[in-house]
Amino acid sequence: MNSTSTVELDATNVFEEAIGKEHGLSRSELDGLAGRIADCRRDVERRRGKDIGFMELPYAGDLADRVRQKAEELHGWCKNFVVLGIGGSALGNIAVHGALNHPFHNLLPAGHPARSGAPRLFVLDNVDPALLSGFCDVVRDELEATVFNVITKSGSTAETMSQFLFVRDWLRRAGGDPAKQIIATTDADPEKSLLRRVAEADGYSTLPIPANVGGRFSVLSAVGLLSAAVGGVDVDELLSGAAAMDERCRAEGLGDNPAALYAAILHLFYGRGKPITVLMPYSNALRRLADWYCQLWAESLGKRHGLSGKDVFVGPTPVGAVGVTDQHSVMQLYQDGRFDKVVTLIEVEDLLAGTAGGGSESLPICRGASEQELSYLKGHTFGELFGAELAATRFALRDKHRPNLTLRIPAVTARVLGELFMLLEYAVTYSGGLYGVNPFDQPGVELGKVYTYGLMGREGYDRPY
Ligand code: PA5
Repeated sequence: MNSTSTVELDATNVFEEAIGKEHGLSRSELDGLAGRIADCRRDVERRRGKDIGFMELPYAGDLADRVRQKAEELHGWCKNFVVLGIGGSALGNIAVHGALNHPFHNLLPAGHPARSGAPRLFVLDNVDPALLSGFCDVVRDELEATVFNVITKSGSTAETMSQFLFVRDWLRRAGGDPAKQIIATTDADPEKSLLRRVAEADGYSTLPIPANVGGRFSVLSAVGLLSAAVGGVDVDELLSGAAAMDERCRAEGLGDNPAALYAAILHLFYGRGKPITVLMPYSNALRRLADWYCQLWAESLGKRHGLSGKDVFVGPTPVGAVGVTDQHSVMQLYQDGRFDKVVTLIEVEDLLAGTAGGGSESLPICRGASEQELSYLKGHTFGELFGAELAATRFALRDKHRPNLTLRIPAVTARVLGELFMLLEYAVTYSGGLYGVNPFDQPGVELGKVYTYGLMGREGYDRPY
């Protein structure tokens, strides 16, 4: 495995030298947190591979082989690949697909070189009936060539299991073959997962989710890997980037460990009245990564109870945005509104340099004549304009004393995406230690599930009133 990690965390604009004393951090404040972050790091290291498993996922070579093999089996006959799942069983898939596949993947002809025969990809992470019937309209004529990947760690979530029942019923009635067209990704233990028991009884292919990997930390398990491989993503690269970042995030010193540094900075700002953390990639491909990030942050850190069981009611509020689109929207608030936010920008170097996609994205704005007033645009590429807009945002935030960081990446590739997933998963884990909460549970989400069971009449669950 190539162990070079390429993501750079530029924290220049969080310090008082850049944004002023009132809103900036001092180096000594950051150093003051080094001891606590080191404790968090040691705690995670001690639990690695025991109750915390996400960082071991890049090394599960057998699983990657199984996933690749399954994807190959589908190649050629599967025209639509559909993920049925919600929360952590869906958002990673959406992020990978959005980042690494063609922006109009499903609209390209299947034989187009940018799709190279991959099926159309869909992630149905809602039970809104209008969405589901709309989806049926899209695949009805190709149902026999449609594969459904049902993903649920617990194996019982009402949203996913209702979609499963619906699809299985549809396949049965339409003469489809559920055993061929349904793949179940769930906890390996049939005692824990109803879906696994059903899959075994009905003869579906299955893939496991390790017991020590929770939904929002599972993108690099079979949860995210199968749809990635089916879409043509190099899963080895994804895992290899994650492994490289795993090494960096185990480092002791704050300066060498980007996850620890990021967690420490955001935590210090939380304590200084800035609880809102914005992730704003300057990359359309990464806009869905921001959704994944919001879930990771909110569900891991938004907690009523601290580790001792006492009420703490903590948690930063994550928000997703995308450059340049949101420069003409929420950026007004981020620059001039309350001083309660920290913005993390993502800069993609090859996009700005115009070398992304082997240079295909160095689109010139205009090759011909233009009006005098627009001549400042002529002779430039969209990459240059994109870069200027990012720089403008960074200068504006700095000049208005708004803390901002930049995650600088060389390109949006499978490898880099693997690095980003691992970096942010480590960062939220260290943050859990700093906030004094368990980042791996989600009692609020579970309560919603339990109330839904009660309202739908599931045996053993009371209706809330
Ligand atoms: O991160 C989490 O644990 C949750 O968001 C779950 O992924 C979500 O609730 C779906 O759960 P399951 O995969 O058990 O269906």
